[in-house]
Amino acid sequence: MTSASTAGVVVVGGGQAGFSVVSTLRASGYDSPVTVLAAEPHLPYQRPPLSKKAHTDAVRAELVPESFYRERDIDLRLGDAAISVDTAARTVTTASGTHIPYEHLVLATGARNRPLPAPGAELDSVHALRSLDDALTIGQALTTAREVVVVGGGFIGLELAQVARARGAQVTVVELADRLLSRAVSPQVQEHLRERHEQAGVRILTGTAVRAIEGTKHVRRVVTDRGVLPADLVVYGIGAAPRDELARDAGLAVDDGVIVDAHLRSITDPRVFAVGDCARHPHPYAEGLVRLESVQNATDQGALVGRRIAGSTPVPYTSLPWFWSDQGDIKLQIAGLRMNTDDVYLATGDSPERLAAYAFRDDRLVAVETLNWPAEHLAARRLLEQSAPVCAADLAGSTLGALTRARRAAGVGG
Ligand code: APR
Repeated sequence: MTSASTAGVVVVGGGQAGFSVVSTLRASGYDSPVTVLAAEPHLPYQRPPLSKKAHTDAVRAELVPESFYRERDIDLRLGDAAISVDTAARTVTTASGTHIPYEHLVLATGARNRPLPAPGAELDSVHALRSLDDALTIGQALTTAREVVVVGGGFIGLELAQVARARGAQVTVVELADRLLSRAVSPQVQEHLRERHEQAGVRILTGTAVRAIEGTKHVRRVVTDRGVLPADLVVYGIGAAPRDELARDAGLAVDDGVIVDAHLRSITDPRVFAVGDCARHPHPYAEGLVRLESVQNATDQGALVGRRIAGSTPVPYTSLPWFWSDQGDIKLQIAGLRMNTDDVYLATGDSPERLAAYAFRDDRLVAVETLNWPAEHLAARRLLEQSAPVCAADLAGSTLGALTRARRAAGVGG
């Protein structure tokens, strides 16, 4: 435990990762000052529901009420972003002109949306989604929109496509790559997702570039290299980039994210940690450094750094990555990392909407993608976390649920 006389911890960022740091610090008995600088005016909230719910007040998903911070003496400063860091003086300067000293600094600054590189992207009724305010704006626009063009067939785009469809709009997804979700899932699962979205009435144009968005004030049409789409609302999700400029300007090593070691400490300054979407780090499941955008990663990294600063024995970050995306009635879940995999096997469940794709590298299971099959996803997480590897012969055309039961019966693994 640290003495109450130290400058304490300053956390830059009031998202899932920042929240995880400060809640873990206090839960671990840390009793020095804890300050959170949050750029947005809202209490820290969950982002995943923003693109999945129909953008009503139901998306106001605060992580905890305001009293949580007060009762734990966490100085939560809403709407006061950090604008610079002096690593020699160990101070952070905020937009309101305050200088805050720190013993440890944690960067949990997240990511920002890549801007849409097309003329007309500045028109009214062209929206990206990241913040609660964005979600409320899109939700309002969907009350009248009839023809929605979604640019980007990734997580955000496909979730929003189903939200718009459920609100009764005609929906077209325009994806630049030849496949949907090309960053995230195997070609086999991409194909299934495409079929399911099309069955739900979403038109999908892959291999298609947006040339311009046209209208006077409001959008009227989207010009693509394969024709013109009438539109009264355009939403886009074409990927995210880390918010790492604060670190870069402070002289910390940055390369598409703040570069940290296996303990999530800046490789330039051991008093600075980075967690969540903004951190680029080593990981036992990856070759080289990775930057992961997920709630699991933000939560687990924040907790690791919180425990570490509170005085627990340092351990490297090794959590199994997992992800999910709810696209209408399709629940996509991913366990592990699919990079550089060589073989993918498919299994179908006992109901037709279930599917699992098992990805192997050097005959070792490294990632599992499931559609509408939460039990198989959980079995995958358990098996991937165990040190006993799963090879293709172990799976033998069956499922991980069945393999787990067989191993238990034989007294192997958990
Ligand atoms: N036009 C159309 N599509 C594009 C363009 C473009 N100019 N540029 C990129 N794309 C496509 C990519 O090929 C990809 O399929 O946009 C998609 C972006 O998908 P993601 O990388 O999943 O990013 P996004 O959907 O924006 O989500 C951003 O938010 O919910 C989180 O974890 C999620 O990391 C994700 C982040």
